[in-house]
Amino acid sequence: MRKGLFITFEGLEGCGKTTQAKMLYNLLNKKGIPFIFTKEPGGTKIGQKIRKILLDQKNDSMDYKAEMLLFLASRAENVRLIILPALEEGKIVISDRFYDSTTAYQGYGRGIDLKIIKHLNALVVGKAIPDITFFLDIEPQEGLKRSTAFSNSREIRFEEEFVNKKIIDGKLFLERVRDGYYKLSQEESGRIKVIDANRSKEEIFKDIIKIVNKKMAIR
Ligand SMILES: Nc1ncnc2c1ncn2[C@@H]1O[C@H](COP(=O)(O)OP(=O)(O)O)[C@@H](O)[C@H]1O
Ligand SMILES: [Mg+2]
Repeated sequence: MRKGLFITFEGLEGCGKTTQAKMLYNLLNKKGIPFIFTKEPGGTKIGQKIRKILLDQKNDSMDYKAEMLLFLASRAENVRLIILPALEEGKIVISDRFYDSTTAYQGYGRGIDLKIIKHLNALVVGKAIPDITFFLDIEPQEGLKRSTAFSNSREIRFEEEFVNKKIIDGKLFLERVRDGYYKLSQEESGRIKVIDANRSKEEIFKDIIKIVNKKMAIR
């Protein structure tokens, strides 16, 4: 049985995923509500190793499909070892990125077949389907401005493709990713909440809390 609540944060780099996830778990901490926090890629021992491969500059020429499968491999471990056990214990699980990132970046961004991604994602997550996903929406350029000053440069390699003006089908990479997130939010409007991230951290957090409270009340 899966009793917990699974909350994921999605969106372009610099939109505020890590910031909002931290604000949420600080609040849960204060209230004494059991939770765990995890991020992708990473989370487990194998996940950490995969993260290193993905962020290693020497691997920049990696095949897109190989890259996607590494993200999925990391996720499979994270679901089995961390996410599902916590949900079964009735905890709140907060994940900084999850399977919508694969659909948005590798599917809509890179152009890998969306049907295949859907199947692979389903295989990997099993019952660990998020109850609430916050898509923090921001202009690519705006997110980049926020994140470049703070991030490890290897963590923004997808964003480099945007800066380098790589165009596929007439659109910049991050614009395709953002469009992908919009499409996903339309397809799954019950789960994915679009949040205007171009506001203060506090204003954004107010919206998030409202939605989380509502979900907890009917759980
Ligand atoms: N609403 C906001 N307004 C202005 N700056 C923000 C906001 N939310 C986050 N930031 C700042 O932008 C940077 C990127 O935020 P972060 O949460 O790391 O984004 P992400 O995890 O989505 O890449 C951080 O320096 C953070 O403090
Ligand atoms: Mg982050």
